[in-house]
Amino acid sequence: MNILILGSGGREHSLAWAVMQNPKCDKLIVAPGNAGIAAIAECAAFDINDGGTVSRFCEAQAIDFVIIGPEAPLAAGVADRLRADGYLVFGPSKAAAELEASKAFTKAVCDAANAPTAAYGHFTDAAAAKAYVQANGAPIVVKADGLAAGKGVIIAQTVAEAEAAIDDMFDGSFGAAGAEVVIEEFMDGEEASFFILCDGETVLPIGTAQDHKRVGDGDTGPNTGGMGAYSPAPVLTDAIAEKALAEIIRPTMAEMVRRGTPYQGVLYAGLMIKDGQPRLVEYNVRFGDPECQVLMMRLGGQAFDLMQAAAEGRLSEATVNWADDHAVTVVMAAKGYPGAYEKGSVIKGLESLPEDSKNMAFHAGTAEKDGAIVAVGGRVLNITARGASLSEAQARAYAMVDQVEWSEGFCRRDIGWRALT
Ligand code: AMP
Ligand code: GLY
Repeated sequence: MNILILGSGGREHSLAWAVMQNPKCDKLIVAPGNAGIAAIAECAAFDINDGGTVSRFCEAQAIDFVIIGPEAPLAAGVADRLRADGYLVFGPSKAAAELEASKAFTKAVCDAANAPTAAYGHFTDAAAAKAYVQANGAPIVVKADGLAAGKGVIIAQTVAEAEAAIDDMFDGSFGAAGAEVVIEEFMDGEEASFFILCDGETVLPIGTAQDHKRVGDGDTGPNTGGMGAYSPAPVLTDAIAEKALAEIIRPTMAEMVRRGTPYQGVLYAGLMIKDGQPRLVEYNVRFGDPECQVLMMRLGGQAFDLMQAAAEGRLSEATVNWADDHAVTVVMAAKGYPGAYEKGSVIKGLESLPEDSKNMAFHAGTAEKDGAIVAVGGRVLNITARGASLSEAQARAYAMVDQVEWSEGFCRRDIGWRALT
């Protein structure tokens, strides 16, 4: 098969790496890709958020199957256009992608599905939102309704802080995403991510992971897109996963069918777990980045068969072959991230790193310049390793990190700590 992956991050590098291991893959193109992806697949540059452009590229390149990595093309309806033009696609329709694109939509679906989640109110003006905050007290969570690149959530410790966040959102600090606001009960507990493939009807869990959102060791400092992840997440036990499927995931999928917008693709459920009970924090309609990197490291080439089965509506026949293993990915970022950082610094030592089924340096924000690999993003490399235990995977990942010569970069040294202490 000729395969096209849309996206340019570490998530897409790991997807490309898994797809390349599958014998069904004849040709792989990634758009736009990055320097690491270019070493294993062809890269192409065009507007991946424009369905017509993607469709014309697929025709010219005789593409059979398109895997959509990030949320932006999904929210823009690229999957709909490709399906209408006859291509096999992994990723939800624009209507189903509302599960990530609108928090109010997700809350309404959870209500209809009776899925456990935080109590909430949905507001289009500041006065009503503030009245809700005053009635409920703090801590309380203020969220911009739309896609805000992970920045639209404020956990307010006081009523005054919540009111300031409400003013910011209605004043346009979050752009169109903040025109509507969802205010939620603060949920206490431990967070974990659950990844489930869906083909409209059938759901198939493909793994659990835990991300590290804060920039500093011990979960300190500002929030980021994710500084590292590990899989599996021991807090998400088999019993809790089964509960999440029965009470949250399957009822949500059934509600999407009832609405005439069945969900196909990967569903990333952020769960808050307390006293053995999972509650939904949020859905994303794509793989997590960097959670995808640890899932792909553990699944390898079968990930392609599973995504194909989801796209073809054959998940009821599919099974996942799990090794009893663990994977860790450490994000190496440019100094200054998540604030301002420099671009263009040269990274050395990558060529001496092992690249096999247990060790991979996935690239996120890299480019090639005059034969050298240079940093062009905030999150730049995802050093990923697998082991029989979490501590073995962690040791392997940091052994690789220590071989990377990049004085302008940094990483957390404690990825996996929650599961190791
Ligand atoms: P979201 O974009 O909805 O995933 O929110 C980003 C992060 O904010 C989540 O990963 C949680 O850590 C935190 N968060 C969101 N909603 C809540 C909530 N209701 N209670 C506690 N923490 C929350
Ligand atoms: N790592 C969090 C996300 O992909 O949304």
